[in-house]
Amino acid sequence: MFRFLRDHGIIERNLILMGVLTLITVSIGGLVQIVPLFTIETTIERVEGIRPYTPLELAGRDIYVREGCYTCHSQMVRPFRDEAERYGPYSLAAESMYDHPFQWGSKRTGPDLARLGNKYSDDWHAAHLRSPRALVPESIMPPYAFLDRPLDTESIKARLQAQQALGTPYTDAMVANAVVDLEAQARADADGAGLAGRYAKARQGNFDGNAAVVTEMDALVAYLQMLGTLVEFRDVTPEQVRQQ
Ligand code: HEC
Repeated sequence: MFRFLRDHGIIERNLILMGVLTLITVSIGGLVQIVPLFTIETTIERVEGIRPYTPLELAGRDIYVREGCYTCHSQMVRPFRDEAERYGPYSLAAESMYDHPFQWGSKRTGPDLARLGNKYSDDWHAAHLRSPRALVPESIMPPYAFLDRPLDTESIKARLQAQQALGTPYTDAMVANAVVDLEAQARADADGAGLAGRYAKARQGNFDGNAAVVTEMDALVAYLQMLGTLVEFRDVTPEQVRQQ
């Protein structure tokens, strides 16, 4: 009757056997958790409205990464009440599915930017980036006035192709029209029919207030203004968010 306990003693007295059996047990547990995640298609729930970045937004995103904005700003609203009250609905995995690399971040010297889009005007953003302390006297954010220089549009096609290689569903038409779409979005009065057809909710504008040249500032502000705006959270009330 107590055979099982006696046999168990054999394992407990043999350090190597115990080690091997522990390794096997832990590995099975690990595999059960990790293997399903490799089939990423089923891990991220598709959400309506999520689309790849427009060429101008992608250029802006690359500047955001280049300048290390992520060292002070996160882009992920966590599912806690205080975060939802301050920033808005918590982030969904699908919202960063086309981010290579993602910008969730782990440091908040400045506020989270995941729901930044449409919070301020384009003018506010441009002025704030040029001189944060001109608008927020106590700010410790560095100035980025040098972004008022022309944007390198020659590399944009290659940037889209790089994203394509990583699995972002840019169509060949999107790649072929990358420069055209970029220029159309950065000029408020340009014909934006092609752009709108390829990218839903792409807003055109003179993002830096200067219509003459397409600058890095245009790209960065276009990117900041679309953050968190693709999914319609209108039907999700703050009450529901809190209960989830
Ligand atoms: C050294 C840390 C630091 C870096 C680097 C930094 N920021 Fe900030 N940022 C802050 C702080 C602190 C604030 C809050 C004060 C303010 O509004 O200026 C802030 C505020 C902001 C805001 C206003 C957010 C809101 O909801 O009011 C935006 C937009 C922003 N930063 C964008 C950027 C971008 C884009 C970059 C990169 C080009 C950047 N920041 C780099 C520290 C930083």
